[in-house]
Amino acid sequence: MDSTLALAAEGYAWLPDRWRTHTGPVVRTRLLGHPAVGLRGPEAVRFFYDDRHVARRAALPEPVMATLFGRGGVQSLDGEAHRERKALLMDVVSPPERVEALAEGFAAAWEEALPGWLGDGRIVLFDEAGVVLTLAVARWAGVPLAGHEARPLAADLLAMVDGFATAGPRHWRGRKARVEREAWLVELVEGVRSGEVETPRGSALERIATHRNADGEPLEPHVAAVEVLNVLRPTAAVAWYAAFAAHALHRWPRHRERLGEAAYAYAFADEVRRFYPFAPFVAGRAVTDLTWHGEPIPYGSLLLLDLYGQNHERALWGDPYIFRPDRFLGGGVDPRLLVPQGGGDPESGHRCPGESATRSLIAAVAARLAELSYAVPSQDLTIPLGRIPTRPRSGMVLSNLAR
Ligand code: HEM
Repeated sequence: MDSTLALAAEGYAWLPDRWRTHTGPVVRTRLLGHPAVGLRGPEAVRFFYDDRHVARRAALPEPVMATLFGRGGVQSLDGEAHRERKALLMDVVSPPERVEALAEGFAAAWEEALPGWLGDGRIVLFDEAGVVLTLAVARWAGVPLAGHEARPLAADLLAMVDGFATAGPRHWRGRKARVEREAWLVELVEGVRSGEVETPRGSALERIATHRNADGEPLEPHVAAVEVLNVLRPTAAVAWYAAFAAHALHRWPRHRERLGEAAYAYAFADEVRRFYPFAPFVAGRAVTDLTWHGEPIPYGSLLLLDLYGQNHERALWGDPYIFRPDRFLGGGVDPRLLVPQGGGDPESGHRCPGESATRSLIAAVAARLAELSYAVPSQDLTIPLGRIPTRPRSGMVLSNLAR
């Protein structure tokens, strides 16, 4: 039976629930009319991210391209074309000095916003964090943006993420935001190329606008716009984790005490990424007839790597439903186990190039929240697992903020 409707109804619980009633190395289902095979665990990560097994391009549904990813970007490439484009994005996003500069820019933008939050009013942290993150990433990426333009840009970036897995008004809002913001960025890219738009040397905008492919050709302006959005959009999306960090501090306030220690703040950030739901799974297609632990996976099958399920698998984590940052203290995290932003090697595969940036930003939000005093007024804090992406329904309302 096709499970598309079950996925829409059950969201994050859909794939993990299939495992609950099944003991083999894979779960089998049908999605969007095709046979689909679910995998999880560190060995499955290696198997899935081997491009002799799985191609990604053929598994991207149109509604996801039209909102979350755009067309022609790094997510839709395979093989050599992917490696070449990914090298550019890794270079723009992941070097430690770039991550540090982004975290510093975030701290500055937070300090600018804070006076407006203090006092006896209230804020919705999800919305405000989105604006602060957007302002920080636009400045860092060399995208010219006046202060008052940050809020509408944040709303558009968040809409592209919020609308990818639903059919209703949220989806149409995400499509519209993408069309408009791609057009805006095409103009900026062309402006940088013609010298009419100034952007610092080495900024993400400058690097992407002036990049040349292996064949010496620049990126098409539309593709360059998609790649600039690939930097702006997911950084603004750290607003989801900001809301989750505030949720965790509200439920387990004892963690506030140790967030002044950098190592603890990073462990807290990793536990937020493990514990709370964001990306449910990543999908690809078998490029040939495959066998996984004796299970045949015919050519063309849809493969689903169960990220959310793996981050909550008892055999890997012991007590997966306990929020315990300590599990990440005193030793490196095995990147094959913790997969909220994909698995495998980010240089050669599709794993997120923004993991260091995400960890730093969550750690920064958590440490700053712990320095403030505030109340969490009565509100709907439930996190519906049937909604993708989910968050506390209220967006985390904070009131009476004081330093
Ligand atoms: C909210 C925090 C974030 C989450 C939950 C997240 C999650 C993910 C996931 C699940 C993937 C797909 C992995 C795969 O297909 O195997 C991905 C890819 C990607 N992420 Fe992130 N990410 C986040 C933050 C960031 C940041 C801060 C950046 C850049 C500044 C970024 C840039 C990208 C790019 C460009 C890709 C595509 C990589 C490729 O296809 O090779 N992400 N991310």
